[in-house]
Amino acid sequence: MLEVSKLSASYGAIRAVRGIDLSVGKGRLCVILGSNGAGKSTTLRSIAGLHRPIEGKITLAGHDISRRSVHRVVRAGLALVPEGRMVVAPLTVEENLTLSTFSGRNNDPAILERVYTLFPRLKERRRQHAGLLSGGEQQMLAIGRALMTRPEVLLLDEPSMGLAPSVVDLVFDAIVELHRQGQSILLVEQNAELALSVCDYGYVMRRGEILVEGPPQDLRENPEVLEAYLT
Ligand SMILES: Nc1ncnc2c1ncn2[C@@H]1O[C@H](COP(=O)(O)OP(=O)(O)OP(=O)(O)O)[C@@H](O)[C@H]1O
Ligand SMILES: [Mg+2]
Repeated sequence: MLEVSKLSASYGAIRAVRGIDLSVGKGRLCVILGSNGAGKSTTLRSIAGLHRPIEGKITLAGHDISRRSVHRVVRAGLALVPEGRMVVAPLTVEENLTLSTFSGRNNDPAILERVYTLFPRLKERRRQHAGLLSGGEQQMLAIGRALMTRPEVLLLDEPSMGLAPSVVDLVFDAIVELHRQGQSILLVEQNAELALSVCDYGYVMRRGEILVEGPPQDLRENPEVLEAYLT
């Protein structure tokens, strides 16, 4: 269980996140919706230890991880797939995946096979340089690399960004499959229709705050959400 309470974070002079509360229970798929600049990435980066919050508390399975460094957050069981994917271009697919051996959370060789089962394309391309992969394959690799640390909670920042609709479907099929397997997931997504079709619970952010939250069917019927995100 990931719990975030009263989280605030700045971006330079901008208070990008203002006192938000959210939680991701075991095996749940929760989403954060919101338009550009709402503070979604700052929220995920703060949870992942990449950005130091000004205020608030983040706990994972009851342990306070609010002010831990990134590698200690990974060791505690969180893995972030950042916006823009960030694979290591000159390394092969398999080298990108096995990099996480250094995290201290990966000592089970079966995990690599689990990633290859989820993304057979990565297995086919295991010896290719990551920089030569398509955008969709790089997104699969970024998710695969995060899974290699066996995270308690997987944090995904706009995995659909810049991908063709058919490729977005492939990536979302994998997210749904991970959810089915019991993986806890916190997903940031601008495509509200898509996000609400897969999640258990959603949060809508606007200007650094949570405007409204609830199960997907409630959000779909919410006039404010309808007007702003579901046209
Ligand atoms: N590199 C930056 N320099 C200055 N301000 C930034 C920077 N990145 C984000 N901000 C500001 O911080 C606030 C929150 O940004 P954040 O990236 O968290 O939003 P987001 O919801 O992830 O948006 P997007 O959908 O565009 O990814 C915005 O007001 C934005 O203008
Ligand atoms: Mg963002």
